[in-house]
Amino acid sequence: MLAIDELLGLNRKAEAILAKGLTVKEGEEAPLTSEEKEELQHYEEGLQKVLDIIAPAAMEIRSNEVVLNDQHARTLYVYNWPSYIYPNWLSQTINMDAQMDIAQYIFPSSNKAIMRMLRKKVAELRSSIRMLEQRGIVRDPTLEAALQDAEELRDLLARGQEKLFQFGMYITIYADDEDRLKKLQTDIESVLGGKLVLTKPASFQMEHGFTSALPLCLDELEVNRNMNTGPLATSFPFSSSDLTSDHGILYGINRHNQSLIIFDRFDLPNANANVFAISGAGKSFTVKLEILRSLMMGTEVLVVDPENEYGELCRTVGGTYVPLSLQSSFRVNPFDLPRAVRGEQAETGEILRAAVINLHGLFKLMLGSITPSEDGVLDKAILDTYALKGIMLETPDPGAMETPTLHDLVDVLLTTQGGENMAMILQKYTDGSFAGLFDKHTNVQLDKQLVVFQIRDLEEQLRPIAIYIVLNFLWNKVRSELKKRFLVIDEAWNLMQFEDSARFLYGIVKRARKYYLGITTITQDVEDFVNSPYGKPIITNSSLQVLLKQSATAVDNLQKLFYLTEGEKYVLLNSGIGQGIFFTGNKHVAIEIVASPAESAVVTTKPEEMIARRAAEVVKEREESIKMKKRLGLDTAASSVATGPPAPAEGSAAPAPADATPSPATPAPSPESTPPAAAQTTSEISTVDTPAETPAIPAPSAQAVEPAVEQTPPPATEGEKTTDAE
Ligand SMILES: Nc1ncnc2c1ncn2[C@@H]1O[C@H](COP(=O)(O)OP(=O)(O)OP(=O)(O)O)[C@@H](O)[C@H]1O
Ligand SMILES: [Mg+2]
Repeated sequence: MLAIDELLGLNRKAEAILAKGLTVKEGEEAPLTSEEKEELQHYEEGLQKVLDIIAPAAMEIRSNEVVLNDQHARTLYVYNWPSYIYPNWLSQTINMDAQMDIAQYIFPSSNKAIMRMLRKKVAELRSSIRMLEQRGIVRDPTLEAALQDAEELRDLLARGQEKLFQFGMYITIYADDEDRLKKLQTDIESVLGGKLVLTKPASFQMEHGFTSALPLCLDELEVNRNMNTGPLATSFPFSSSDLTSDHGILYGINRHNQSLIIFDRFDLPNANANVFAISGAGKSFTVKLEILRSLMMGTEVLVVDPENEYGELCRTVGGTYVPLSLQSSFRVNPFDLPRAVRGEQAETGEILRAAVINLHGLFKLMLGSITPSEDGVLDKAILDTYALKGIMLETPDPGAMETPTLHDLVDVLLTTQGGENMAMILQKYTDGSFAGLFDKHTNVQLDKQLVVFQIRDLEEQLRPIAIYIVLNFLWNKVRSELKKRFLVIDEAWNLMQFEDSARFLYGIVKRARKYYLGITTITQDVEDFVNSPYGKPIITNSSLQVLLKQSATAVDNLQKLFYLTEGEKYVLLNSGIGQGIFFTGNKHVAIEIVASPAESAVVTTKPEEMIARRAAEVVKEREESIKMKKRLGLDTAASSVATGPPAPAEGSAAPAPADATPSPATPAPSPESTPPAAAQTTSEISTVDTPAETPAIPAPSAQAVEPAVEQTPPPATEGEKTTDAE
């Protein structure tokens, strides 16, 4: 239906009059006749406006409140400010769960008059002090403090470092009835009063007060105090950053204002992240939660897990779990090349050149130190090794061809002058005690959304080498196919302790963005990380940082590195588990990481929780098998207990002694009784054809993890022996 204005043609008429008025230049007399003006005014009055809709029906002004329809409003003004005030004092008031308007009026004052006044004041104070001295009376510290303050202010004003302002602050509070209004007033008075910011209601001036707190810039109360720049700056109300976006995943709760921290790290300049905290503060927990939630959004995740902490998560989401160790059957060939994504890469031989540079870094790690001449020999030998398989700099798409292995390189080195020494050392990896792991063709598939490389059971010396090779392998995969994904490197200090691996990590962190990759590094030891020449650049190339609980020794280092305020430093020292500060660019937010019970069960590394969970699973499986057997008309429950764990045990070759598995009545078995259960569960983890993983034995404590690395638990060796015999 057309509006009545349109039907009567009033709007067209008004528009015509307006258009006529608008053509007038400045200074000229408006060509509108008084009749036209009147008509225009009439027309405008007749229009329906937003104000008509939102305005209250009536406004009753009482001595101590204003009533708008059924809303009661009261305005308070600040009449006293403390001598010292801390930044962000207003945030508690702002974050109160109440409806209120806060208005701050800041009027600049002229410095000249103030300087004159201060000079007079200083003279007065000086003479008072002198008079006391002459009369032999003991000195008055208040006078001296006042003199010092006045002098300081004079200095700052004279240098232009500070300015003087008149500051007024009014707060209008709203409530449905008088009682609630009164309560709210008491709440606000006590919150502000605690900081010595004292308020009074603007009694008998409620209308003026109400207007003053509206965004009209009309200070009708005029209760202003002198304030210089420093204290005035503390009244800036928004020191809590908000990190809520309409897409992305939940990272945690903003501890400043209880809002949710939701965002997508791929919206940042780069998607890299660093997580720093002491052991047990919740680093891995935080990252695992992020993984779990990101997987739901379709992001692909790759993990290098040196502590066997991601197995449970991997199993739950059906990812690929690759335990790398000398005993396992998974192999990664460091000579692998990525498939060319961009044509020109293949043409210029860039793929091969980059691979050779990476291999250099790797062999330096393996060989310890090499002389410049050896370096030259090695370079040629690597190129020759590729050439043996027909891969040259000019080969188009070398990634599609069969690659050489470490054996080929050793052969080439043995026949090269000056290469014999290196060949001898590398033979340790082809025929010696470390043989088998890096000298075969790759047999790991990366087709799942989550892929975890577990390297806990590798010998300590082999770890940096293994991480290097795995990262190189993953990096090749990342470059071959563009996809939204991130790569998690837990305990990244493993890499930072060697220059070559640190440089490699830095290299991929720097380039990750172009391949739609975010790299998360997790580190306990800030010192190690920062002292490495590549640690700092890795941090500066990461847009996201999560700092959880810190030790007193590390926090100073972090403060310098991240320009933390004293308050933030305090937060880090006193955080509980899963609490800390979250940085994106220059936004700092205090965060609390929270997980639902279901999520928590999947990502926890607490030994007692893991044991309880395993036990519950065993009990459930047994109950199910009993039910199944009953349904099939087989023997009773009693006989099934004697035969040990059912179906899944067949998949894993681990023998499951019946007495080691808990009976359904035992809710929490001792750690010794869990390996069989673990063997059952991990057999489902791996999705690669030859599973030979080490079962996730719940570690009784963080320290106890280390010794376990050396001795592979008995059921595991059993399982692996059988599956490894290919
Ligand atoms: N946000 C959290 N909410 C509840 N529990 C948590 C939280 N963060 C950590 N925890 C508990 O603390 C345990 C240790 O956390 P986590 O494994 O993440 O430690 P970490 O910092 O990775 O230690 P380390 O450096 O030794 O690996 C977790 O298994 C979990 O039970
Ligand atoms: Mg951890």
